[in-house]
Amino acid sequence: MNKAKIISTGSYVPENIVTNRQLEKKVDTSDEWIFERTGIRERRIALKGQAASDLAYEASKSAVKKAGIKAKDLDMIIVATVTGDMQFPSTACILQDRLGASNAAAFDIGAACSGFIYGLSIAENFIKSGAREKILLVGVEALSRYTDWEDRTTCVLFGDGAGAAIIGLSTDDSCIIATDIQSDGSMWDYIHVPAGGSRKPCSKETVDKRLHFIRMKGNETFKVAVKTLESIALETLEKNKLKPSQLSLLIPHQANLRIIQATAKRLGLPMEKVMINIEKYGNTSAASIPIALDEAVNTGRVRSGDYILLEAFGAGLTWGSALIKW
Ligand code: ACO
Repeated sequence: MNKAKIISTGSYVPENIVTNRQLEKKVDTSDEWIFERTGIRERRIALKGQAASDLAYEASKSAVKKAGIKAKDLDMIIVATVTGDMQFPSTACILQDRLGASNAAAFDIGAACSGFIYGLSIAENFIKSGAREKILLVGVEALSRYTDWEDRTTCVLFGDGAGAAIIGLSTDDSCIIATDIQSDGSMWDYIHVPAGGSRKPCSKETVDKRLHFIRMKGNETFKVAVKTLESIALETLEKNKLKPSQLSLLIPHQANLRIIQATAKRLGLPMEKVMINIEKYGNTSAASIPIALDEAVNTGRVRSGDYILLEAFGAGLTWGSALIKW
């Protein structure tokens, strides 16, 4: 069986920075509350007119360039997003057109914050089976478009951005060792956008009731996140006969610093071995892991031969992990 690997990474965040202090002027909150409860200081918000595919395009261009390939070499484009440009067509098709990646099959997947790991699992299996050779995987979100800027319990959490990776055949030691994806739909209402789909199509009433914005049961979600992230990380390591101490870096989804710290503690990992950038970007959902991965690569925190673990948790509820030898 073939082995798959991450050949290159890229990322992009909008230039527009919104700090906690700026949010203090919009809702009843404080920099202290936000930082203490979440670890977030600021987030990037897409400029007026900037859509998910625009962010994805910048991150993808960088990943394609670093892989030393042309967009026409791509045979698949997977975009993980829950905030695509429009209901349909897929953001992946819009991105395909922009990149000129005319030889790719393009589609979106929706697993919220776990989207990049879900996409990695799909890409890994397409490469392993030999059906595809060069896959562009993008995690992108424009969550600011679904954020209720009058709701202090959610508007302080999210940010916009994109991260990309090229997944291809491994001909050396470095590879995606394993991916694991799981979900529990019984908790679908923990994080959701009530209207705008076929259940509650857009109407004056849905707009008046602010049903097109993210609703989240934060506290309940927090508890499930800590439990599932710990168990999936340990399961993935155990199945592949590795101990947490053998990991060089844990790259968790950046939803809340306290969730990240709790997971690291249960794995017995010192915080130096955990990639954290939530302070700068907030929760960028499907984009958070590929943005953090690209930053880790660019700053030399991931080196050839390192074992790294990616893990995420999000709406659905969904969660997943990916064990990689870099
Ligand atoms: N500023 C000031 N006070 C606030 C704010 C705010 N921005 N937000 C909430 N509060 C208040 C609440 O009203 C509450 O007040 P009360 O006690 O008088 O009722 C108090 O602070 C505590 O609220 P909690 O919700 O219990 O705060 P908690 O410590 O749980 O933190 C948070 C909330 C940050 C949302 C946390 O629960 C969390 O991070 N949850 C997990 C989020 C997550 O992982 N989501 C998954 C990914 S998202 C996706 O898939 C798109």
